[in-house]
Amino acid sequence: MADKLRCGVIGVGAAGMDHLSRLAATPRATAVAIADTHARRAREASERFHVPRSYSDYRELLDQPDVEAVTVAVPNHLHATVALDALKAGKHVLLEPPMAVRARDAQRLADSARKSRRTVMLAQGLRLHRHTVLARALIDRGDLGEMYHARAFWLRRAGIPKIGSWYTQKHLSGGGCLLDLGLHVLDLALHLMKDFEVKSVSAVQHGKLGARGVGELDTARADPAPARLFDVEDFGAALIRMKSGRTVSLEAAWAGFLTDDGREQGVEVLGTHGGVSLFPARLLRGMMDGWEMLQPSAPRAPHAEDCIHHFAACVLEGRKPIVPLDQSLRLQHILEAISTSAASGKDVLV
Ligand SMILES: NC(=O)c1ccc[n+]([C@@H]2O[C@H](COP(=O)([O-])OP(=O)(O)OC[C@H]3O[C@@H](n4cnc5c(N)ncnc54)[C@H](O)[C@@H]3O)[C@@H](O)[C@H]2O)c1
Repeated sequence: MADKLRCGVIGVGAAGMDHLSRLAATPRATAVAIADTHARRAREASERFHVPRSYSDYRELLDQPDVEAVTVAVPNHLHATVALDALKAGKHVLLEPPMAVRARDAQRLADSARKSRRTVMLAQGLRLHRHTVLARALIDRGDLGEMYHARAFWLRRAGIPKIGSWYTQKHLSGGGCLLDLGLHVLDLALHLMKDFEVKSVSAVQHGKLGARGVGELDTARADPAPARLFDVEDFGAALIRMKSGRTVSLEAAWAGFLTDDGREQGVEVLGTHGGVSLFPARLLRGMMDGWEMLQPSAPRAPHAEDCIHHFAACVLEGRKPIVPLDQSLRLQHILEAISTSAASGKDVLV
């Protein structure tokens, strides 16, 4: 068995640069090629990370026979196309979420992955966080009793990615904060509840601030973008009913006049005998007069929380990744139903 997976990195904006850092750090993979339509950005990234080849057309990268896998960090509307092309070229794929902008394209990707005998994993890396692993172990041990509700939220006061970039244009992103932030905490809630069987959703979305140019992240992004192109939600909320009778409430905001200085991001799962929350992992059980702050067991293996390391190890060792593709597909269907429900003002069956 080879000890390093030879990877190409497609898209070297903010997320792709993070992929390159992780690839440089993990002993299980190495970056051998880069592709980005922004040729100078690709060249500079290859110089910085000592990656021998860079291309402005990702299809040229896919033609390279020594590239065994690709990590994909391009704007959302390109996810399914690039991943499908990579599968066609026989590559394993680590893809930034969401799978696609439309659920039907995500379905095509899932179908193609099933036939391909290649690993396709979405970078839903919070599942690998040591606190998530601990919370899941407590749930598996039965500490919560019967789980009946989860609350998932990621609420930023001012965190809209560059207004006018692909992030804030629906035809390029598929949606705003619910896809960018909500997706990750919803995934954690369903992962902890071990239940992806959704019956219906009732949702709302608002885009009150970004359209006025309010609430932008203060970090400068790479591409200067035309101002005020903003037709996605900067706040979204949903009540999700599971076939099991469980429920999940989800809230996500890129921006909002939020007065609470507490946790920006969290998941809580309620059971008949206890409750667990992230982040950090806390458990309340037995009596209701206090919670236990849990200490995740002392250092897990190096790189254990890095999803690129995990992906590479799974490919090399023929293991199933911690993020099954069928669960990512279900997540996509739920998010599409949320968008449909918000637009129609009605409950939507999933
Ligand atoms: N920024 C983050 O912190 C972050 C975190 C997690 C996930 N993500 C996800 O990663 C993906 C990329 O986000 P980002 O913030 O890096 O965006 P970005 O705009 O910073 O970078 C996207 C890059 O893709 C390149 N690109 C566009 N079309 C291309 C094509 N056809 N072929 C090759 N390259 C192409 C662009 O030139 C750019 O360099 C998104 O799906 C996003 O949701 C981003």
